[in-house]
Amino acid sequence: MSTNHSSRDSANDASRASSAAASKKAPDRPHSAPSAAALPARKQPAPPCTLVIFGAGGDLTKRLLMPALYTLAADRLLDEGTKIIGVNHGERETKAWSDDLHAALLKFAADKASTFHAGKLDDEAWDWIAQRLTYMAGDFEDDTAYECLAQQLNGKSPGNVVFYLAVGARFFKPISERLGNAGLLHEGKDGDGPFRRLVIEKPFGADLASARDLNRHVLRYANESQVYRIDHFLGKDTVQSILALRFANAMFEPVWRRECIDSVQITASEVIGVEGRGRFYEQTGAFRDMVPNHLFQLLGMIAMEPPNSFDAEAVRNKKVEVFEALEPLTPADVVFGQYASGPAGVGYREEPDVAKESRVETYAAARVHIDNWRWAGVPFYLRTGKRLAARRTEISVQLKRVPFLLFRDTPVDTLAANVLTLRIDPTHGTSFDFNVKTPGPVMQIGAVCSTFDYDDFFAAHANVGYETLLYDCMLGDQTLFLRADGIEAAWAAVDGVLHPEHDAALRVYDYAAGSEGPAQADALLARDGRAWRPLARAEPTKT
Ligand code: BG6
Repeated sequence: MSTNHSSRDSANDASRASSAAASKKAPDRPHSAPSAAALPARKQPAPPCTLVIFGAGGDLTKRLLMPALYTLAADRLLDEGTKIIGVNHGERETKAWSDDLHAALLKFAADKASTFHAGKLDDEAWDWIAQRLTYMAGDFEDDTAYECLAQQLNGKSPGNVVFYLAVGARFFKPISERLGNAGLLHEGKDGDGPFRRLVIEKPFGADLASARDLNRHVLRYANESQVYRIDHFLGKDTVQSILALRFANAMFEPVWRRECIDSVQITASEVIGVEGRGRFYEQTGAFRDMVPNHLFQLLGMIAMEPPNSFDAEAVRNKKVEVFEALEPLTPADVVFGQYASGPAGVGYREEPDVAKESRVETYAAARVHIDNWRWAGVPFYLRTGKRLAARRTEISVQLKRVPFLLFRDTPVDTLAANVLTLRIDPTHGTSFDFNVKTPGPVMQIGAVCSTFDYDDFFAAHANVGYETLLYDCMLGDQTLFLRADGIEAAWAAVDGVLHPEHDAALRVYDYAAGSEGPAQADALLARDGRAWRPLARAEPTKT
């Protein structure tokens, strides 16, 4: 697992103090202070392989795969023997495909807001990629395309191949089946030949039955060790660093349990609406789009038991155990919402490709319980939605209040609770809310917040979030990829919401575009005597 990527550039980083107590000015760390210490980075290039991208002309290839391959090339993490074959419907010259990809890269690099090589591209790295591209026209459901592909792959020397399905979910089954039937997923007797891997993106089904069906189908043609199922949240450095925070520091694990933790909130809120994806959203909705996959992956990282090693199976076993321990959700545990027109724009039903009477949810909140020794009785509150008050992907771990207060005239329940917040997007770091004595002769308690920001300690490095995933796949490290049993356990936990008993449809409550979400989601927590952390809150001032 490439957990040391984030610290790769740190040796040369200038460091600055990042702790800021509320609005107080924190002293700057002197320039001579050491930068954040980094373990030696693993920099071995991936083994030689041919990457076959189905969906070469699609958005995913342009927006994420090619930029990630470019970054890996610029970092010299790809082998000289790397080749990239793009398969798509429609005749096209390789040159035209390559020019198209290059234009998209230039656009990303010019976008100041992106973390992708802001400023300029390295021509040498792009030429390196461009020389390795081949475009192949092919219909994903036509056997002859796979015969052509086999000729291309096996023609000279059969080698390692990664098949990347950057296509709509309806093609997962037909492509894996045809690859299998054409012998292209065969790794030799006892798996001792060159590797053959299959990368699939979410959605892995739309409920338990369809997820099982997809897994069964794919596993007919490939072994589990060949299947790399991507949840792009696991490609984020800040998500991977949840494990580092928990297991590379002695201070957190002792409190990471029901005796000390009151509750956990996991949020993935967006300000954007459905952004032209109305057709997709009408079939999917916020819950299926985000909860049993992205939010559950965050839940798994936060709640899993310490693995014995960072071996892929050790980590994945522990994560799957969390999903298996989830109490099945019932309709009473969730609240669905849909944005109506508000300060931030038009309502969902006025978006293109959305039915005028649509009751599809664009917001989902859920209360989840993990039935195991560590977490019994600790609620995990999950929420996600479009067109909300702020973009915020984060996990807040709220500790229990102190049992007794020493300070006269200060009732315990007026003390703010300690909250550790892991900020994943758009800011990257951690914040900790705690209490101090306020300055002055009177013994008074005040709440402050201490923050750590990645930018303060580490030089920004170009990253679209897929670099680690592609690199790990080429190396054969499945730690950050989902296993069939984990996917099915996650769907099993939510099936009661997707198919409620007696088919009673869940109500979908309106919320104003740009707001904190539907009031009924507040009520979900209020029933437990708790409240959501506001989305629109100000970040602690950094000085
Ligand atoms: C995708 C969902 O998987 O994740 C989108 O389909 C969502 O609806 C996106 O916007 C969020 O990802 P990120 O990385 O932008 O937080």
